[in-house]
Amino acid sequence: MRILIFIFLSFFFCNQIVAQKITFSTHIAPIIQQKCAPCHRPGEAAPFSLLTYQDVAKRGTFIKDVVQSGYMPPWKPDNNYRTFHNDRSLSKAEKELIVKWVDSKMPEGSVKKSAKENSAIVYIQGTQYHRKPDTVLKVSKPFFIKGDNEERFLVFKIPFDLAKDQNVEAVEFVSSNKKVIHHANFAVHPVENEVDILQGADYVDLSGSDRSKYDQYLPFKKKMDYYGGWIPGTSFESYPKDFGWVMPKRGVILLTIHYAPTGKDEEEMSGINFFFTKSAIKRKVDVISLGSAGVGESSIEPYFMIPADTTKAFNLKIVTPQDQSLLYIWPHMHLLGKTFKAYAVTPQGDTVKLVSIPSWDFKWQEIYRYKKLIKIPKGSILTIEALYDNTKENPKNPNHPPKMVFSANDMKTTDEMMTMLMVFLKYEEGDENLELDK
Ligand code: HEC
Repeated sequence: MRILIFIFLSFFFCNQIVAQKITFSTHIAPIIQQKCAPCHRPGEAAPFSLLTYQDVAKRGTFIKDVVQSGYMPPWKPDNNYRTFHNDRSLSKAEKELIVKWVDSKMPEGSVKKSAKENSAIVYIQGTQYHRKPDTVLKVSKPFFIKGDNEERFLVFKIPFDLAKDQNVEAVEFVSSNKKVIHHANFAVHPVENEVDILQGADYVDLSGSDRSKYDQYLPFKKKMDYYGGWIPGTSFESYPKDFGWVMPKRGVILLTIHYAPTGKDEEEMSGINFFFTKSAIKRKVDVISLGSAGVGESSIEPYFMIPADTTKAFNLKIVTPQDQSLLYIWPHMHLLGKTFKAYAVTPQGDTVKLVSIPSWDFKWQEIYRYKKLIKIPKGSILTIEALYDNTKENPKNPNHPPKMVFSANDMKTTDEMMTMLMVFLKYEEGDENLELDK
């Protein structure tokens, strides 16, 4: 009995000691700053800030729950299939620290230290990148969205005339009101001096009868230097040293915004943050879109339509035309999406794993950056496999009762897509061993 009491007491005290050691300032603040605050701060996507001790302690139990269930931080890829540079999931140890800290009544620890550590990561208003943008190119004025529950497709014209060409080290879509946006794409078009970049309307509404007015932007569209985008959950796109693309001195950005239906009047104003670098771009990055609305759309098998009350799997196989090094991958489906997997099979028969999302959630998408460049040799068969659930058991199904869904050109949320964007470079010897910074 005495031994039992002794064991019990020492266990109790040990736990107490361990618990006492976990404080906000020493253990919890660094995790929250790194893994939560990018979204949980003013101006970002989350509904409340997690910056101070009070912000966090006030929601302790709630935070413990969402961390334990894996709901927060949102991170959908299977890390056993492939790990990523921008992984924001919590390690097992970090989760345990948060749970134990909440269970031990959330001691704050040394406030002095906390203030010091708070300055370890300085968040900058208006960006998730680590410094202020060099140039922000915005639409001319806020767009008013009527609360009539209609989807809208707008193309905004953003003319620009910089002092000179610029080397881009990072780009980031920004918006004053991200929650009303379903997705955004932007294309950077260089425009020669003879063409007036100020001509034409500030925007064209593609969802209305305006559609034909889109032709007024044709003079800008002769060349395209880059193509990027934003979907819910995504952050910036940045490139390792010496990598990037060149922003032309003069031109027009055509920014397509798909507004989600809203029942309440809203305003939104968006733009693109550009981060330039003085060092030369030695390796040019490129983007390609595969699948719906991209390369190989008609090769999706079987034909891309999902009858009501079925779950249906599709695949797309595309042969890689040259040796490529892959930097980012960006899977995309809508509300019926369940699983998404991509891999390449080399001519030698080796499988290169690219990404696996075992439980797709439209709300949490991301452009995933690899830790090292992934070589995809010429002649590899790039394969995408995706599964969709168009039954009433799928709680996200937008149709009650379910109805036949396919990929229409409009890309409404209630249509479906099976798309994958890749940011890649031409392969150079030794790429797969390059140490990438940033
Ligand atoms: C990628 C952005 C992002 C990151 C990173 C993130 N959150 Fe969130 N969080 C959100 C958004 C957006 C919401 C509100 C929408 C929702 O719940 O679907 C949210 C909601 C929450 C909620 C409320 C959940 C509910 O059911 O209403 C809690 C609690 C929370 N987050 C805690 C955290 C914690 C703790 C972390 C870090 C360990 C974290 N979040 C990281 C974006 C993020």
